[in-house]
Amino acid sequence: MSHSTPDTTPCVTTIAGTGSYVPERILSNADLAKIVDTSDEWIVSRTGIRERRIAAAGETTSDMCTKAARLAIESAGITAAEIDLIIVGTVTPDSLFPSTACYVQQNLGASNAVAFDVSAACAGFLFAMQIARHFINGGNRSTALIIGADKLSVLIDWTDRNTCVLFGDGAGAAILRRRTPDDEATASGLLSSVLASDGNLTGILHAPGIGSAQTLPPNPAVIPEPIIHMMGKEVFKAAVKNTCEACETAISRAGLPAADLDLIIPHQANVRIVDAIRERLGLPPEKAFLNLQKYGNTSGAAIAIALDEASRSGRLKKGDNVLLVAFGAGFAWAASVIRW
Ligand code: ACO
Repeated sequence: MSHSTPDTTPCVTTIAGTGSYVPERILSNADLAKIVDTSDEWIVSRTGIRERRIAAAGETTSDMCTKAARLAIESAGITAAEIDLIIVGTVTPDSLFPSTACYVQQNLGASNAVAFDVSAACAGFLFAMQIARHFINGGNRSTALIIGADKLSVLIDWTDRNTCVLFGDGAGAAILRRRTPDDEATASGLLSSVLASDGNLTGILHAPGIGSAQTLPPNPAVIPEPIIHMMGKEVFKAAVKNTCEACETAISRAGLPAADLDLIIPHQANVRIVDAIRERLGLPPEKAFLNLQKYGNTSGAAIAIALDEASRSGRLKKGDNVLLVAFGAGFAWAASVIRW
């Protein structure tokens, strides 16, 4: 099956600012070992995760998005009124409708934007990035707020050790804009992208429970619990195979040898998947940015939070070539090379 078409889009769009937010509450591996049969040693050796953040009961995905967005707007030095496009990549919207992006629009007072959500699970932020890039490149919009955010803690079966140790909550945001002469001088921008999906793999990772496939129970007062079902090994294999190929394509479309990459910001699901991608590209460990030890897999938020942390910590420097790569339920995956 062919999953992607060549990306011949010129480099017109750049990242002007980033922001992120994670909830205050920390859930450590030791905390989890009190509720399921697991251990810090098992979780760290199989995934690299040490702790994750869990949103407060009333804290919604749009609340987290709004906090991350405000920081991205501030770092880009723009006002909310300048934003003409808002895209939120999430699989845990506040409600089935309206879109989480519309709640964010309301919270920010971004009244000049069109706002909508995109569903690509953990690849949601990169899908949002490429959709926004095409809007900007097409000349239809000039300043986009893209957000990856999820509150997966509401979908987790807290008795299932196979899944509950993996995930956390959070949000990350970026402002994309048409390149300015300064950006052109430094050649910063989105250089290439690969977006792909394989609907034959819907069964390896899914969250049934709410949606049109759900028959209402005889007692409509009983709302079914949505939970994550995952075939871990199948997800692992699909992630490594598909993302490695996507990375190679994105790098080649950017016209760079892999050795010219300064940093990879991969989806923060499992350090062993990151190692497999990195080794396939022949890159040393220090070129992969990791924060999964602190946050676990925050789904659509993971790359966005990592991008913001890499930027704010000085790990990303002007002119750096950066590979972003994500995969998630669908199966959906994406890779993109950017020059910072
Ligand atoms: N603690 C202790 N033991 C555990 C735990 C745990 N938390 N979870 C599973 N086990 C046990 C299982 O019961 C099983 O025991 P058994 O062999 O007696 O049956 C054994 O450990 C499983 O071992 P493996 O299957 O070999 O574990 P593996 O090395 O495959 O690691 C993992 C499992 C971490 C889930 C891995 O397969 C993985 O990371 N897969 C990818 C998951 C992923 O990235 N998901 C996110 C996708 S993004 C999105 O869209 C949300």
